[in-house]
Amino acid sequence: MEKSYQLLLANNKKWATEKTKVDPEYFDQLSKGQNPQYLWIGCSDSRVPANEITGTIPGEIFVHRNIANMVVHSDMNMLSVLSYAVEVLKVKHVIVCGHYGCGGVIAAMGNKQYGLIDNWLRHIKDVYRLHQEELDAIKDMDERARRLVALNVIEQVHDLGKTSIVQNAWRNNQELHLHGWVYDLSDGIIDDLGVNIRNINDMHRIYQFTDM
Ligand code: CO
Repeated sequence: MEKSYQLLLANNKKWATEKTKVDPEYFDQLSKGQNPQYLWIGCSDSRVPANEITGTIPGEIFVHRNIANMVVHSDMNMLSVLSYAVEVLKVKHVIVCGHYGCGGVIAAMGNKQYGLIDNWLRHIKDVYRLHQEELDAIKDMDERARRLVALNVIEQVHDLGKTSIVQNAWRNNQELHLHGWVYDLSDGIIDDLGVNIRNINDMHRIYQFTDM
């Protein structure tokens, strides 16, 4: 057990040495600051690493991850990340990336109690209820789960658009596009769900804030 833990530190030394060998300025450059163009809101699932699956390197993506890539309005962690990314880093794109086979989504489809996490998963149950007719009509349970993964991502993208952080950026004519993606664990390919929200008019009227 101790050995597998020590392995990470050994790997890190090897990695840092190799990076410096290829580019002696690598860490000097990175330590000067970051200027990422993207905020990634993804699942905590260990199989969905933002940089690796998008072919990006350190410094390119600002990342927030939680179970089932949720945008929960009372989540101070997510709101702080979003606020910093939009207002300070001025990212151009916010991407919510879900993944097929998401354990959180599958758990939310069932009725078993899991404990504390049920409070978190309840937000996904709300998405199910919103789209119950469509989902109940899908008889194959795997297909139904895949559809819920996609619908959940779409809802989270809309939830981003409901925040004052995003709406104020739009009002200040900041270019900020919201996207919904789903990653397929079985082939490594990302589906763009085509839910592109680029300004306040892309939001349902009831969520559109005017000035204070
Ligand atoms: Co997941």
